[in-house]
Amino acid sequence: MAKDIRFFELNTGAKIPSVGLGTWQSEPGVVGQAVASAIKVGYRHIDCAQIYGNEKEIGLVLKKLFEDGVVKREDLFITSKLWCTDHAPEDVPEALDRTLWDLQLDYVDLYLIHWPVRMKKGSIGFKPENLVPTDIPSTWKAMEALYDSGKARAIGVSNFSWKKLGDLLDVACVPPAVNQVECHPSWQQAKLHEFCKSKGVYLSGYSPLGSPGSIWLKSNVLKHPLLNMVADKLGKSPAQVAIRWGLQMGHSVLPKSIHEDRIKENFDVFTWSIPDDLFAKFSEMEQARLLRGTSFFHETFGEYRSLEELWDGEI
Ligand code: A2P
Repeated sequence: MAKDIRFFELNTGAKIPSVGLGTWQSEPGVVGQAVASAIKVGYRHIDCAQIYGNEKEIGLVLKKLFEDGVVKREDLFITSKLWCTDHAPEDVPEALDRTLWDLQLDYVDLYLIHWPVRMKKGSIGFKPENLVPTDIPSTWKAMEALYDSGKARAIGVSNFSWKKLGDLLDVACVPPAVNQVECHPSWQQAKLHEFCKSKGVYLSGYSPLGSPGSIWLKSNVLKHPLLNMVADKLGKSPAQVAIRWGLQMGHSVLPKSIHEDRIKENFDVFTWSIPDDLFAKFSEMEQARLLRGTSFFHETFGEYRSLEELWDGEI
């Protein structure tokens, strides 16, 4: 009998729906339809970020879905993220206010520091000269104030190595509830996941399909022979197997799609499971980080001089 893993629990006591709709690279013009389809299919978790440039359209759709009685605000879990240009403590509440304005909400369920990387206020794009040194403790204090105000019901981080997460935990009054990171069968984050579990920080996985739409990454996660063998045996698609693998590993997954058939397919992962013998084989898969964050370090500018420093060796 498959375990019906619909929710996990955060250290705040809140329940985070285990499958959320990713919205990175869902352009305005199509993102609204994707969010509406997902919510009608049963998704209750939408993963947003200011830098995705689509929160306004998501807000319009949410408003309509609330008005039409399709879903209630309190039944949704909405995540958004603080962009690198807004790390200065005085800019943090303004950034969340902008997101809330765009999403037409009074609060988000989870607000994350998007990257452990700081860029000049107001700067646009990924030029190295925009990178400046970070001060995560002071940014985090401002995040804690948002948590205290109730505008962010939980706060957390994204793209933090276990070392950076540990440094934050050493100074945090409110411990981060979540670390959202790249996670799929070809980048399983075993060490980071163990660390998160030991500290009560919940790991949420982005790019659970290996981001096949990001052609520059040349991702072949969904083409991996093991994933396809398991998919054939179970009569499921490789995407469904990748998502179910994440759930059985104990982290939430945030598959992005703008297509209704795939949105449905990606949510059909609760009534079946990967049997133990097949599940065990995933631990033998070769590992490689796909989203390396090459714009976030530079030999002259910013906090990190190398890929090593950005990820503290987890590459
Ligand atoms: P699309 O939005 O055109 O459906 P990830 O969540 O790992 O970042 O992956 C998102 C990418 O995977 C998008 O390009 C999306 O394309 C594609 N995708 C989403 N669901 C599926 C699926 N069930 N099968 C194949 N590709 C999918």
